[in-house]
Amino acid sequence: MIILIGSKKGGVGKSTLATNIAAYLSKNGKDTILVDSDIQRSSSNWFHDRLETNLSPMACVQKYDNIKSTLQDLNKRYEYVVVDCQGRDSVELRTGLLAADIFIIPCRPSQPDIDTIPLMSDMVKQAREMNEELQAYCVLTMCPTNPQVTEIADSQKFIQNFSEIKLLEALIGDRKVYRDAIASGHGIVEMDNDKAKSEIESLMSEILKW
Ligand SMILES: Nc1ncnc2c1ncn2[C@@H]1O[C@H](COP(=O)(O)OP(=O)(O)OP(=O)(O)O)[C@@H](O)[C@H]1O
Ligand SMILES: [Mg+2]
Repeated sequence: MIILIGSKKGGVGKSTLATNIAAYLSKNGKDTILVDSDIQRSSSNWFHDRLETNLSPMACVQKYDNIKSTLQDLNKRYEYVVVDCQGRDSVELRTGLLAADIFIIPCRPSQPDIDTIPLMSDMVKQAREMNEELQAYCVLTMCPTNPQVTEIADSQKFIQNFSEIKLLEALIGDRKVYRDAIASGHGIVEMDNDKAKSEIESLMSEILKW
């Protein structure tokens, strides 16, 4: 199964989500490969830090430009292929969407981020002309943990207008532990923070329906 994390926007939490999804799958005994298609190499750097630990193993490769056939090939060799894309409308994102089973669009609950959803919806529609079974999800990331803030509800209401993209109920909070995890080769499921752990577990159970 190919799970691609992408957006046309930078800094929305794509690499954080990709590394956490890969760590979750690996910790659950799944044969997993992380594909870094962003020249910034955030996911690859995380993977190299992980090699220094005794945490559950996975593979990692870098692949740029047209990634479709590489993803299809890796999908025959691994149970899960998790792809981290760069934050723009790129060849990697467009070609990756032609092979992906699941597309996850992280989005912060703020105007500049939710303004990208109409274009992401068009991109999903175009990809489905070639890849009919593509499942597309949006997840709100870096959500304020203060319950007084209405930005989450406002963003949810807006995103629900786009029928091509299913908004996940799971919310990813703005928590320091996510920064600590990506800096040390860990996934949240390997850190000592129950709230963050249950956020990633909820997201995974919504997309994988295990
Ligand atoms: N849930 C979170 N809570 C707190 N900090 C977060 C969270 N998610 C991401 N961050 C931090 O926000 C920054 C951007 O996250 P990340 O690198 O995952 O985004 P990205 O979409 O991959 O960015 P880019 O477009 O540059 O590749 C990083 O410093 C990361 O540690
Ligand atoms: Mg990134």
